[in-house]
Formats: sequence, C-alpha cells, structure tokens
Amino acid sequence: MKGHYKLALTALLILLAVLPVQSFAKDMVAKEPPKSLDKLYPPVNKEQKWVQQMHKISGHFGGVFVDMGEQDWENAEKHAARFVESYKEAADMVPEWKDYFDHESARKFAEEVKTRDAARIGKAAGPVGKTCGKCHDDQYLSVWTRYHWPSADKIAITDPVDEKELKYGKYMSLLSGAFKGVTVNFGEGQYDRAKKALGGFKKRFMELKSVCSKCHTGDAVKQFYVGEASAQAFDGMEAELNSPKPNPGNFWKHVGTLGYEGCKKCHLTHRAYAIVQEIWEEKEEARK
Ligand code: HEC
Ligand code: HEC
Ligand code: HEC
Repeated sequence: MKGHYKLALTALLILLAVLPVQSFAKDMVAKEPPKSLDKLYPPVNKEQKWVQQMHKISGHFGGVFVDMGEQDWENAEKHAARFVESYKEAADMVPEWKDYFDHESARKFAEEVKTRDAARIGKAAGPVGKTCGKCHDDQYLSVWTRYHWPSADKIAITDPVDEKELKYGKYMSLLSGAFKGVTVNFGEGQYDRAKKALGGFKKRFMELKSVCSKCHTGDAVKQFYVGEASAQAFDGMEAELNSPKPNPGNFWKHVGTLGYEGCKKCHLTHRAYAIVQEIWEEKEEARK
C-alpha cells in the first residue's frame, strides 16, 4: 500500500516537472504562424484540428503517468505507444514546425516505460516535455492572435454625430479627438466650448455599446468600459460644466476615471491582439 502511494506521488511529481509550462524565452517575437496551420483552424476547417491534436498527445503523455501511479503498466505502455504516434501525426500536420519535434526522444521515452522503472521513465520524459514547452513559448501568442482573436479591422461603426460609417480604428481616432476637444477647451477655461464638445463625445463614446455584439453574444459585458463607471464620469463632467463655477479638481478626476475605466481597460484587453494583427497586416501590404 505504502509503495503504491509513493509511486503515485512520484508519477505526479514527474508529470508536473515535465509538463509544458509557460517559461517565456528572453526575447518575445510574435511571428506570423505558418500558412499550413490555416487548414487546421476555422474558417478553412470547421474544427480546431490542431487543438484536438494537442489534447490527443497530451492525453497520452499524461496517461502514462496516471497509469504509472496506479501500477497499471499495461495501459501505461499503450499510452506511451499512442503518444509516439500522435506526436508524429502532429509533426506531419505542420511541416514548417518539424524542427520543434524530437522523435528519437519520444521513442526512447516509450521504450523506458517498458522498464517499469519510475526514475528512468521520468528521466526520459524530460527531453520530450521540453519540446512541448519550447514550441508553446514561441507560438502560443501568435496562434491565439491569428485564430482566436476576432479582427477589429472588419468592423465598421456609424458615427452618431456625422452619421458616416467608419472603420473601427478610424472611429477610435475620431473618439480620441473628441475627447481632446473636451479636455483642451476645459484646460483653456473655455467652458462653453468644452460643454458643447462633451455632448458629441459622450454620444460617440456610448455608441461603442453597439459594437460589443459584433463579437459577444450576451449583453452582460456592457457593464464594462461602457457601463456604470463611465456613465457616472460623464455625469460628473456635465455637472461641473453646468455649474456657474466649474471645479477643475473634480472635473479632472472624472476625466481620469473615464480615461481609465472607459478607454484604458478596454485597450488592455482588446487592443493588444489588435496591435499584433495590425503589424502583420502592414507587413502583408508591404509584400504586395
Ligand atoms: C510545434 C509546436 C508545438 C509542440 C511541439 C507542442 N505544442 Fe502543444 N500547443 C501548440 C500551440 C500553438 C498551442 C495553442 C493552440 C490553440 O490555442 O489554438 C498548443 C496547445 C496545447 C494545449 C492546450 C490545448 C487547449 O485546449 O488550449 C496542450 C494541453 C498542449 N498544447 C500540450 C502539448 C504537449 C503535452 C506537447 C508535447 C508532448 C505539446 N503540446 C507540443 C504548439 C505545440
Ligand atoms: C473585435 C471583437 C470584440 C469586440 C468588438 C468587443 N470584444 Fe470584448 N472580447 C473579445 C474577445 C475575443 C474576448 C476574450 C474572451 C471572449 O471571447 O469572450 C473579449 C473579452 C471581453 C471581456 C472579458 C470577459 C469575457 O467575456 O471574456 C469583457 C468584459 C469585454 N470583452 C467587454 C466588451 C465590451 C463592453 C465591448 C463593447 C464596448 C466589447 N467587449 C467589444 C472581443 C471583442
Ligand atoms: C470597446 C473597447 C474600446 C474602448 C471602450 C475604447 N477603445 Fe480605443 N481601441 C480599441 C481597439 C480594439 C483599438 C484597435 C483598433 C484597430 O486597430 O482597428 C483601439 C484603438 C484606439 C486608438 C488608435 C487608433 C488608430 O489610429 O489605430 C486610439 C487613439 C484609441 N483607441 C483611443 C481611445 C479613447 C481615447 C477611448 C476612450 C474615450 C477608447 N479608445 C475607448 C478598443 C476600445
């Protein structure tokens, strides 16, 4: 009984040690994923074939250790053999990535499973686990940017002030200019102009609510960025501009809230991927 428990623990520890953890290399380069990945993801493929393959190899790799902990050696060996196969399949799916794979280490690992010696199995698993981690470090972000993050580039917004339709990025520039119309005039003590600019800016900002549904199915997300905190900041700015003697301290506090809760927080979640996509897009244009 005691031996069993120790082996299970050893198996778990080995698995944790060799499992691909995100240990980012010193320089992070977000290269475009290779073309042959296109056929393994929507819209070209109905399914996310690469992700499915990853589940397959990681299920068999992990399966070895689960069974080893249970001393179910028969199944451990089955998983080891299937791991080698599925690891090969993965390599064949994306020829551009073939150098990430180390089939000799995979084969050796499967051989060592037959010895039923936990220490040897653990040692042989190390080099294989490293190949997972190396590719993940290099490629995760790129793959997420290309295949999981919807492109803002295809989204258009109708400006509620001019009624013109603009691309997302252009609309953002307009929004940013409208915001400055408010803050610059306020800074100059031109409160009437600031008040007039605030009306248009608020309309344009709140119009962003119409854009969430291009990517989100539920309305719950609208509590963020375009929700209560931003609405209150607008109320606060309006109240100052409607008072006979606006209080700059209060006004700037509300500006700061809007800039952070309304603009910055959305940028931190939504703009990071868009920045990488945009750079790839520009590279593509330059190639043409
Ligand atoms: C040649 C590159 C490469 C190699 C080698 C590789 N992976 Fe991956 N793996 C990826 C990429 C890219 C993703 C992200 C896929 C996505 O989210 O669309 C991923 C995702 C995963 C996932 C998460 C799947 C999900 O549902 O999000 C697991 C688990 C995984 N890999 C396990 C492994 C294991 C275990 C190994 C080694 C035995 C391995 N991978 C080797 C590229 C690789
Ligand atoms: C270009 C597509 C796109 C647009 C437009 C967009 N989002 Fe998102 N947003 C995403 C993606 C992708 C995620 C990541 C998780 C997911 O898919 O829900 C996300 C995540 C979020 C999250 C984190 C919680 C969650 O559901 O994962 C919030 C909150 C959010 N968005 C709010 C908004 C709001 C509010 C708007 C409109 C003002 C908006 N988003 C517009 C693509 C978009
Ligand atoms: C719903 C999320 C969201 C909110 C809220 C938001 N932005 Fe953006 N912003 C984005 C995204 C996404 C991009 C990238 C668009 C693209 O590249 O097509 C962007 C890009 C920008 C850009 C760069 C435009 C360019 O030339 O490419 C500026 C400037 C900007 N935003 C200002 C603001 C300001 C100021 C606010 C607040 C008053 C704000 N944004 C609120 C999502 C948001």
